Formats: sequence, C-alpha cells, structure tokens
Amino acid sequence: MKAAWWLALFASGVLSKPSRPRCRCLHGDSCWPTEYDFAQLQSTISQPLIHPVPPESACYPEANPSGNCTDVQTNTFTGNWRSDQPGSMQAPNLESFIFPNGTIEVCYLNKALGVPCGQGSVPPIGVDARSVEDIQAGVKFAVDHNLRLVIHNTGSTFVPESAPENETYHVLTLEAGVQWHEAYDAAQANGRVIVGGITPGGSVGTTGGWMQGGGHGILSPQHGLGVDNVVQLTIVTASGEHLTANSYLNTDLFWAVRGGGGGTYGVVTSVTYRTHEISPLTATAVFGNITPADRKDIITEYLKLWPALSDAGWGAYLTLGMPGAASNFTLVMVAPNVSSADVNATLTPFLDVVRTAQEDMVIQILPFDGFSSFYQTFFANLDPQEGINEELISRLVPREALEDNEHLIDVMMSMDPVLFYTVAGGKVAQIDPDSAGVNPAWRKASAFFISAALWPEGVTVDEYRAIQQKLKDNLAILDSLAPGGGTYFNEASMYEPNPQHTFFGDHYERLRAIKDTYDPRGLFIVAGE
Ligand SMILES: Cc1cc2nc3c(=O)[nH]c(=O)nc-3n(C[C@H](O)[C@H](O)[C@H](O)COP(=O)(O)OP(=O)(O)OC[C@H]3O[C@@H](n4cnc5c(N)ncnc54)[C@H](O)[C@@H]3O)c2cc1C
Ligand SMILES: *[C@@H]1O[C@H](CO)[C@@H](O)[C@H](O)[C@H]1NC(C)=O
Ligand SMILES: *[C@@H]1O[C@H](CO)[C@@H](O)[C@H](O)[C@H]1NC(C)=O
Ligand SMILES: *[C@@H]1O[C@H](CO)[C@@H](O)[C@H](O)[C@H]1NC(C)=O
Ligand SMILES: *[C@@H]1O[C@H](CO)[C@@H](O)[C@H](O)[C@H]1NC(C)=O
Ligand SMILES: *[C@@H]1O[C@H](CO)[C@@H](O)[C@H](O)[C@H]1NC(C)=O
Ligand SMILES: *[C@@H]1O[C@H](CO)[C@@H](O)[C@H](O)[C@H]1NC(C)=O
Repeated sequence: MKAAWWLALFASGVLSKPSRPRCRCLHGDSCWPTEYDFAQLQSTISQPLIHPVPPESACYPEANPSGNCTDVQTNTFTGNWRSDQPGSMQAPNLESFIFPNGTIEVCYLNKALGVPCGQGSVPPIGVDARSVEDIQAGVKFAVDHNLRLVIHNTGSTFVPESAPENETYHVLTLEAGVQWHEAYDAAQANGRVIVGGITPGGSVGTTGGWMQGGGHGILSPQHGLGVDNVVQLTIVTASGEHLTANSYLNTDLFWAVRGGGGGTYGVVTSVTYRTHEISPLTATAVFGNITPADRKDIITEYLKLWPALSDAGWGAYLTLGMPGAASNFTLVMVAPNVSSADVNATLTPFLDVVRTAQEDMVIQILPFDGFSSFYQTFFANLDPQEGINEELISRLVPREALEDNEHLIDVMMSMDPVLFYTVAGGKVAQIDPDSAGVNPAWRKASAFFISAALWPEGVTVDEYRAIQQKLKDNLAILDSLAPGGGTYFNEASMYEPNPQHTFFGDHYERLRAIKDTYDPRGLFIVAGE
C-alpha cells in the first residue's frame, strides 16, 4: 500500500537544550546551513521544503500571518486532524519546551493567557518525503551538515527476499505513512485480517513508532504483537543505503527494528506484515458510572476471569475514572472464535456483580463475522480525542500478578485513571522472547496498565512540577506490581528511573550494539535517549 506522505524534520536544539555538550549544529548556530545549502537540498527533493509551526500559532497573526485560527479552534481535539499538521503532536505539551530556568516556551490556543507564541520543541524545517530518494536526500543532508534529524509519520502471497521458495506467507506490504484505518480496509478487501493498533479513527501509523516500539492491539493475544507479524522491512540507514531486512538478510537489523524503538535505526520505508484468516468474534461492551465500593467488587470478579481468558486469546480494554469521559467504567472485550452464548456463560459471574452494583449499567454482547465489522462498529467513526496535555506512566503486569491479585486490586483502587489493557498473554506469551528486539517483559505479561495526568494549558512551572511528582509517586506504586519489571515505552513515562532496563530488559546491550553498527555517529535520535 502506498504512503500518503511522510516527513523528515530537522530539529531545533530543544531536545538538547539542557546543558549537555552540544555535538550537533542547532538552529541559530553559525554552523546552521545557509539558504544556499537549503536551495541545494531543495533541488534534489520532490516537494517544497516545509517550515512546521505549532498549529496554535494560527491564532497569533504576528507569528503566523497566513494561519486559519478558526480551523485550529474547530479541530484541535481531533486526532486525525492533528496527525495531518507537520508541527503538531497528539499531546500539545510535547510541542512545548521548558528551559532550565523554568520558562515554558509554548504556543497556547488560549490567547487570553497572555503568553507569547513560541516555537517550543517544533522543528523549524523539514522534508515532505514522498519517495525513498527524498528520504535518502534528507538523511544525507542531515549527515553532511551535522543536524539533528527526527522522523514524523502521518499520515498476495509473498516470499521474503533470499528466503527458500517454499517459505510463503499471506502478507500485506505497507509503505511509511499508511495509517491503521487504511490498512484494515486493505486487509479486509483481500479477505484477511491484520494485527494493528486499535486507535479510534485509526490515526496511528502502521510502519513507524507503533511497530518499531513493539505495538499491541486487541488481537495480539490471538496473533501476537505487531513485531511478531513482520516478515520483512525496508529501511534507509544513516549511510543513506536502502536495505532490506528479514530472517535471511540484515538479520541483526531485522531483530533490532522490531521493538528497539522508532526513529532509532533508520527511516523505515515499508513493512510487510503477515495476515491471518478472518475468524468470527464476540464483543462485549460494559459501561456506566460505578462508585468506588462497586469498583472493588467488580474488578475483583473481573480479574478472576483472567488468566484463563488470556490463554484463550481474549483481549480487552478496561478504563476506570478517565477525566472528562461520559462513564467512569468502560470495558470492551473481544473473544475470538467464541459464540455469544458461550461468552455470556463465561462472563455470567462477572456480569451478575456488575448488574447488582448498578442496575443501569449498559451491557451488550454482540457477535461479529470478523475483526473489520467489530472495528467499524466500535472505533472507526470515533476520531481520537487528542490535543490535551497529558503524561503517562505504565507497567506490563506479569501473569503472576493476575493470579495472586490482591495487591493488583489495591493498586487499581488507588489511582485514577486506570487503563487496564489485556493485550498480552495468549500468543504473545508463546513466542520466543529473543526472536525480536522488543522488551522481553511482554512475554511474561498478561496485561498492560497505564495511568496518566491531564491538565489544561497555562499551568505554572510549579503546578507542572507538582503534577509530575504525583505521577512519580504513582509510578513507584505501579512498579510494585513487578519490581524491576518492564513496560511498553510508546505509552510510558519519559522520566523512568532506569529506562534501559524498564524499556528493553536484557535486550538493551544487543540493541545498543546494533545501533552503533548501523548509526555509528548517532544521527537518529529521540527524546529521552
Ligand atoms: C490516539 C492514539 C492511540 C494509540 N493506540 C495505540 C494502540 O492501540 N496500541 C499501541 O501499541 N500503541 C498505541 N498508541 C501509541 C502509538 O503506538 C505511539 O504513539 C507510536 O509511537 C505512534 O507512532 P507513529 O509512527 O504513528 O507516530 P510518530 O509520532 O510519527 O512517530 C513515533 C516515533 O517513531 C518514529 N518514526 C515514525 N515513522 C518512522 C519511520 N518511517 N521510520 C523510522 N522511525 C519512524 C518517530 O521518529 C518517533 O520517534 C496510540 C497513540 C495515540 C496517540
Ligand atoms: C478556516 O477554517 C474553517 C474551519 O475549518 C473553514 O470553514 C474556513 O473555510 C477556513 N477559512 C479559510 C480562509 O481557509
Ligand atoms: C530563561 O531562559 C531563556 C532561554 O535562555 C530566556 O529566553 C528567558 O528569558 C529566561 N527567563 C528568565 C525569567 O530568566
Ligand atoms: C522448505 O523446504 C526445506 C527443504 O526441503 C525444508 O527443510 C523446510 O522445512 C521447508 N520450509 C517450509 C516453511 O515448508
Ligand atoms: C463514578 O461516578 C459515580 C456517579 O457519578 C460517582 O459516584 C463515583 O464516585 C465515580 N467513581 C469513580 C471511581 O470515579
Ligand atoms: C476458529 O474455529 C474454527 C472451528 O473450530 C477453526 O477451524 C479455526 O481454526 C479457528 N480459528 C482461529 C483463528 O482460532
Ligand atoms: C445471557 O444469558 C442469559 C440467560 O440465558 C440471558 O437472560 C441474557 O439475556 C443473556 N445476556 C445477553 C447480554 O445476551
């Protein structure tokens, strides 16, 4: 499937503004490329160079005279709109920058706060890449001029290269820039199903951070993580070469890119995923408002059902106490290849407790002929509610914590929100932990537990520090679920005390060595490295 578009951005210095040695040339430094240099780059690429700005700058005519403020005000909370703006992140706090002296450089939508609009962390210039050649030109330019480079994603049967001819798979090859909603439609049109992110509106990219960070989906307990389904990928490395990686070619890179992190080994230009036979499923949805006392009874009964459900390949998203949500209890479960009658029977002890607690809870058990109609019903038409300042903390919850679950229940009672995603276990647990670079903690996990802080624009740096302290305290509580355990770093705190171990486990050393082989000068960087 062809990419819609794809971007490489030359970052401003913000990622390095804390007083580290500045080994890269930053915007504003005398070494920054001249207009002539950029004109040379322009002559080698297919699209005009772009100059990303924070989207909110449209409301500050002095900063962005051609901007359309109404458009930003209308769409600021719409995830798919945000992912189409080169200068936008899903959570706007990631567009801002806090200097060591406590000054926040930011561009607020609410002009009445009286804060001048600043560029923050948004890169000042970028390549709107539509082809492998555009990507190679961008990478070469960053190397030649010693720039910081960040990558921003947007929007048959098959034999892997060099593999024996009898090794065939049903696959779908997706080029960088393709989003999950497009991939689901393409798989369905071919009579197959593909494991992807279950994002409202499908805004997350299929080949970028999701796959390379070890992305999960509600079908993962049935078919594995994204990385487990990759058969081959192509990548432009820091040397400018366009390499193919699979189980036979560039095998170390193939291992590392599958979980070692987006934006770390090169620019992935395509990913070939294995697809699966479509099988029927039954979805269960439960939502409404419950009191804290009910919460304890309900989650106690719910957790009893797992781990057996995990072994049977069920997946679920449970959300408790999400600020701003219509219900403070929301559950969506998927039972692959199980009839509604059997689902009803399996869930009866749990649903009885739910009904007893709150008679007006909504409970639905719905059969679907396959993943696609389920996704269309629950997620396709919801555009993600983004554009809110947000930081996450998280842990993978090992199977033992579900079996002997008293402490887990206490932790689930102690914080809001709780996002308890049973997207591991089943197939994810059966795969050799060393078969891909992804955090081996996934293989022991049954669930993925997230909490978060959300806050309005305009908080002072002291208020922000208090929010961070609360997150840090709650992170220590989450860590007690599996001391020394791990997490999924795409949905995690940026302030983990031991990120190497928590994000990569005992794969860290090998991942680091492969990075040093393919990117010896450290061209590809991401925040937090
Ligand atoms: C609304 C929403 C829903 C989500 N739902 C899920 C979910 O269901 N399951 C799940 O596992 N995660 C989920 N996530 C987390 C998501 O997987 C991560 O945010 C992921 O990093 C997004 O990747 P991207 O490529 O779309 O985004 P980007 O922000 O463009 O990229 C993320 C990282 O990957 C790098 N990157 C992007 N493209 C490439 C490329 N072609 N080559 C190399 N590096 C690249 C970037 O440099 C960056 O470091 C969700 C996030 C959001 C905002
Ligand atoms: C500005 O955006 C609004 C909302 O998206 C749209 O209706 C309007 O046509 C846009 N105006 C211009 C001048 O593009
Ligand atoms: C803080 O540092 C930034 C960047 O050096 C500077 O622009 C700003 O004026 C400083 N603010 C204060 C209050 O000193
Ligand atoms: C392919 O053929 C080889 C040699 O005949 C055999 O060893 C291997 O198991 C086969 N692979 C598959 C996937 O069938
Ligand atoms: C959920 O909502 C109910 C009713 O509005 C309220 O009584 C309860 O405290 C809320 N519970 C939690 C855990 O937020
Ligand atoms: C679903 O069940 C049918 C009949 O038992 C079986 O043939 C098929 O392989 C199952 N599919 C999956 C994905 O488990
Ligand atoms: C589950 O089964 C019970 C008993 O057969 C029935 O009364 C109930 O309506 C079923 N629930 C759903 C949601 O289908």
